[in-house]
Amino acid sequence: MNILGFESSCDETGVALVSVTPGQRPMLRAHALYSQVQMHQAYGGVVPELASRDHVRRVLPLASETLAAAGASLAEVDVVAFTRGPGLAGALLVGAGVACALAAALGRPTLGVHHLEGHLLSPFLSADPPEFPFVALLVSGGHTQLMRVDGVGHYQLLGETIDDAAGEAFDKSAKLLGLGYPGGTALARLAEFGNPQAFELPRPLLHQPNLDFSFAGLKTAVMTTLKKLGDSPCDEARADLAASTQAAIVEVLLKKSLKALKASGLQRLVVAGGVGANRSLREQLNGAAERHHFRVHYPEFHLCTDNGAMIAMAAAMRLQSGMALATPDYRFDVRPRWELSAA
Ligand code: KG4
Ligand code: ZN
Repeated sequence: MNILGFESSCDETGVALVSVTPGQRPMLRAHALYSQVQMHQAYGGVVPELASRDHVRRVLPLASETLAAAGASLAEVDVVAFTRGPGLAGALLVGAGVACALAAALGRPTLGVHHLEGHLLSPFLSADPPEFPFVALLVSGGHTQLMRVDGVGHYQLLGETIDDAAGEAFDKSAKLLGLGYPGGTALARLAEFGNPQAFELPRPLLHQPNLDFSFAGLKTAVMTTLKKLGDSPCDEARADLAASTQAAIVEVLLKKSLKALKASGLQRLVVAGGVGANRSLREQLNGAAERHHFRVHYPEFHLCTDNGAMIAMAAAMRLQSGMALATPDYRFDVRPRWELSAA
């Protein structure tokens, strides 16, 4: 069975083809991705209307590119999957509309996928896939959650952010440091040259017994620190502040993940979402995994941020596990707000 998947929830258009053979792990045949980041940079953030229009321009060429790279034809597509939510309504509607129109033209069923389930299952596309059950740390631009995952479709929320997401904390701090948007990778790069202990930044909720996060105070602390540094802080001070910001975010993510593993009694951690590409976070988690004897799995670096492969993969795993049925119902809707536990 071949599944063609579409992702268009925010500022990346992604298409992928995944093949499913009974009894085997689904296989990624090809994927194509277009990032709108450059277009939105001029505005300092994603402009929803521009995002939707650009998805319209990119989606069909990316589908052709994916099929050509896989050496497959449209006639070989058995199911068309798409991101149903959460995300920007207009952007989601482009992917959903194209997927359902294509499926209707082919006479094939469709399946709407939860974007976070795509992230959550993306490590199954890696060379070192996890096994169920595990604790998942989902860290993206819009979400920060710890979940207990017992199988496909069996997700229990253990804790989440009460305000900003980890990626948002990276992005907002990066913006204050004049690093553009989205600044996560730029901040991480600058942090390599700085001292992570130079500035004492808050680690809210770190010592609370629950598994919730709070990152909104961090950007305020970065702002206050920058004000103290004056109008044009030197390169060294900026690098120190970047390193201290990253250290604060990483420490909270690390300690709460360890707490979640302890509370659940599980010995496997899966990290997913854009912030999962952060090298410092990976180093700290890998070190802790050795010390505390647990396994940690990540998506491939290039599949940490949004892409079509994770959507086609999530659809494949849902169908394979019997958790979902693809239906020839071409009346589609999208869910800009959607809890994963309700998917
Ligand atoms: O998962 P994703 O592509 O989008 C959402 O679903 O939200 O994640 C994007 C987020 C952005 O906030 C970006 O700054 C952050 O992931 N990010 C990083 C790194 N790469 C991407 N944050 C820290 N370090 C990185 N290397
Ligand atoms: Zn995402």
